Amino acid sequence: MLLHLSTWTEIERYLKSNRGIVMPIGSTEQHGPNGLIGTDAITAEVVARGIGEATGAVVAPTISVGMAQHHLAFKGSMALRPTTLIAVIRDYVESLAVHGFDRFFFVNGHGGNVATTTAAFSEIYSASSFGAAGNRPPIKCVLRNWYDAPGIRALSKELYGDQEGSHATPSEVSLTWHAYPERAMPMKMDPPVAPKGTFTDAADYRRNFPDGRIGSNPGLSSAEHGKRIYETAVRELSEDYRNWVAS
Ligand code: NI
Repeated sequence: MLLHLSTWTEIERYLKSNRGIVMPIGSTEQHGPNGLIGTDAITAEVVARGIGEATGAVVAPTISVGMAQHHLAFKGSMALRPTTLIAVIRDYVESLAVHGFDRFFFVNGHGGNVATTTAAFSEIYSASSFGAAGNRPPIKCVLRNWYDAPGIRALSKELYGDQEGSHATPSEVSLTWHAYPERAMPMKMDPPVAPKGTFTDAADYRRNFPDGRIGSNPGLSSAEHGKRIYETAVRELSEDYRNWVAS
């Protein structure tokens, strides 16, 4: 059940017996030579929607732009500063909490969001701890990176071994090709596996990783792999959601 395709009366009915909501969060940033700029938002969104279909949970609008300052030396990338993203997450959660949602299950598609999202949760909890949360019921938030689900780790190892890497990975590219097959761009990478390493700001990232990839070979991507990745992520995270909301 997608929030933006529901009416307020449908949400009112849902809230009579449910308090959980799935919150997709991603990023809009370069993903190497054949990965879509929306990869992290698309992957989080399709997995979140799959969880919604499997569990009946409401799925919130995707937070599509994330903490991605380090990608800004590549055309088309967008970023929220950490402080902006904290404010966005807080306002998404607290506006939904006004209506009675109190279990927020974040499905994340971007490693760069983790520290900031966790900080946003601390801001939300601080409001209750400091007595500034008014009458709202206690909120619980949890962050799940779809690519860290145990079944996904095992599957990416099986499909790509040590060519999975950490940015513009064949797993995430495959998942977007499953979602948007008309945008699949099979391509040989040069070099096949990108360099690994660290980065600070956007210029440093571009210097270290000239085509945008880190440690990955997205030349191995396929829509068929993407279908298996999708089904595994939805199956594991749906079970995770059911257990967490009931706890
Ligand atoms: Ni990504």
